[in-house]
Amino acid sequence: MPERRKGMKNLNNKTIWITGASSGIGEALAKQLSQLDVNLILSARGEQELIRVKSECQNTGRIKILPLDLADTNSHAAKTSEAIEAFGQVDILINNGGRSQRSLIKDTILQVDRDLMEVNYFGSVSLTKQLLPHMMNRGEGHFVVVTSLTGIFGTPYRSGYAASKHALHGFYDSMRAELEDSGIKVTIAAPGFVKTNVSVNAFQGDGQSLGKMDDAQANGLSAEQCAAKIIKAIKRQKREVYIGAESYAAYVKRFLPGLFARMIKRAKVR
Ligand SMILES: NC(=O)c1ccc[n+]([C@@H]2O[C@H](COP(=O)([O-])OP(=O)(O)OC[C@H]3O[C@@H](n4cnc5c(N)ncnc54)[C@H](OP(=O)(O)O)[C@@H]3O)[C@@H](O)[C@H]2O)c1
Repeated sequence: MPERRKGMKNLNNKTIWITGASSGIGEALAKQLSQLDVNLILSARGEQELIRVKSECQNTGRIKILPLDLADTNSHAAKTSEAIEAFGQVDILINNGGRSQRSLIKDTILQVDRDLMEVNYFGSVSLTKQLLPHMMNRGEGHFVVVTSLTGIFGTPYRSGYAASKHALHGFYDSMRAELEDSGIKVTIAAPGFVKTNVSVNAFQGDGQSLGKMDDAQANGLSAEQCAAKIIKAIKRQKREVYIGAESYAAYVKRFLPGLFARMIKRAKVR
């Protein structure tokens, strides 16, 4: 459960590497963080979109574009070296890039489950492992991972997505337990519905993208509101934060599991 932590660190002169920075929550994070005294490294697959986001940020001289594919873990050692060389160090990695799903289990080929794990889970874990020695040598650093409320509870139409996000909770909880006393912080940010292209880019059961905005997404929090809450959680060095009106469901799941089971099967998740 998210806990209250006192005090707010400033991010002055920090270098922050954001994945999934070409769209949605990552784009909003880049734009808001660029207004602070920070260096930014922006990653995603789409270089042109990263160039657009950079051009819409403040302090563009302090922003490096570093295109990468989260699923191409063989490239991550070289990408991490490039990220460190850009400004001499990386203080914060925000593992935000990811892809969702809109399909029932019975209609979903196994390759979709694998692809969701490759991008959402192994992609983040791979970059984190590449960067960890750098942070351990420096005795400080902060890993942030944008999971989802479906990392706390599964919903219909999200089986593989929820599994990949649950896996991230397990990995980063373990990481925090191993490293918190060594000066390396871990923040898990779990949003509910946010109005981004996440449903447009979501896998359908056959592996094709859905290609349209869901009603649930369209009525969600704005990407800017979500990014502001993530930045606040980073400054507070929170261990975990739930974001959005749907957060109450995490507490229902924990304290009233029977009610939760009846509720979630009727939830409007599309
Ligand atoms: N929107 C929501 O309701 C919501 C709720 C909870 C959690 N989240 C999480 O928030 C994060 C950001 O999603 P969003 O809502 O902002 O969606 P989005 O607008 O679709 O953005 C997704 C970002 O991830 C990048 N990405 C996707 N596949 C990638 C890959 N293989 N390698 C590198 N980058 C990749 C995309 O860039 P390229 O396509 O150019 O690579 C894009 O920058 C995701 O982890 C998502 O699961 C979203």
